[in-house]
Amino acid sequence: MKKITKLFLSTVFILGSMLLLTSCNVGNGKTIIRVSHNQAADHPTNIGLLAFEKFIESKLGDKYDVQIFPNELLGSQVNTVELTQTGAINFTVASNAILESFDDIYQIFNLPYLFNSPEHYHAVMDNKELIKPIFTATEKSGFEAVAWLDAGTRNFYTVKKPIRTPDDLKGLKIRVQQSASNIRMMELFGGAATPMGFGEVYTALQQSVIDGAENNELALTSNKHGEVCKYYSYNMHQMVPDIVIGNLRFLNNLSPEERAIFDEGFNIISKVQREAWGSSVEKAIEEAKKMNVEFIYPEVLVFQEKVLPLHEEVLAANPKLKPIYDRIQEIGKEVIGGKN
Ligand code: GCU
Repeated sequence: MKKITKLFLSTVFILGSMLLLTSCNVGNGKTIIRVSHNQAADHPTNIGLLAFEKFIESKLGDKYDVQIFPNELLGSQVNTVELTQTGAINFTVASNAILESFDDIYQIFNLPYLFNSPEHYHAVMDNKELIKPIFTATEKSGFEAVAWLDAGTRNFYTVKKPIRTPDDLKGLKIRVQQSASNIRMMELFGGAATPMGFGEVYTALQQSVIDGAENNELALTSNKHGEVCKYYSYNMHQMVPDIVIGNLRFLNNLSPEERAIFDEGFNIISKVQREAWGSSVEKAIEEAKKMNVEFIYPEVLVFQEKVLPLHEEVLAANPKLKPIYDRIQEIGKEVIGGKN
């Protein structure tokens, strides 16, 4: 299809869906709550959101009809964050990576090798004192974060050339999420960053537009990237949470009683998603092996050395992150010392 026709059709699609979405009460007089995400139906995120739907409808079902839209049905994450800002969508799941272009406080969790271990990552994200001011810092951006979801550890995976050292990335086009931090990170690793939305990655790999990407293991199976990429290298560069964000106006218009029920619902999303995460990763590894994906365990330190300068760069450009960064380091020590 010619580029211009494609552009026209997607503009018509977006305008059409916005028109549809802004009509709020349909048919049965209930308010529709639209929740968007970009994962498949078998993904832990969808499972967590279905539990939210069930819970909210069990408590407030006479008033609200929760509808979950998986698979980028309402658009890519960047589009759906914008639609959540305007209120056309009530909630969306966005990777922390892309949120930094909506509010630079989110740069903090995009730093490579910020966390020493999954235990450190979880202890930080579960630390209410640290997280609350971040989650509520985005009022001017029209949204509030209401929950975080596990998205595992991000690693490189490639079609032809296994990545064993950062030198192997030289000359390779690697898809990254659409964020300045990720583009800079790839630059420091020595590869050529190719930013694009998640839904475009499979075709880009298949058509050799890119040589590889970076993500958790579920991308190999739930998103089928393992059909094309046969090397997955555990260089462990990032643990980037997914964040559930809600339209601020919608949240502020809830009565205190309703808000308490929604808050319980947000905790349920986190709990159910995270319970499903561990076994989903194990299952993905087994499935990927059957797809002939080879898992590689390179020396992590040599990757780490390449990108650590990004910490200083980001903190110098965005000094308000410094106290948060310092607290994250402290929590890291507490986790090692067994306090958390
Ligand atoms: C993970 C993450 C998604 C994100 C995706 C990506 O799958 O859970 O939120 O969109 O990575 O790389 O874009």
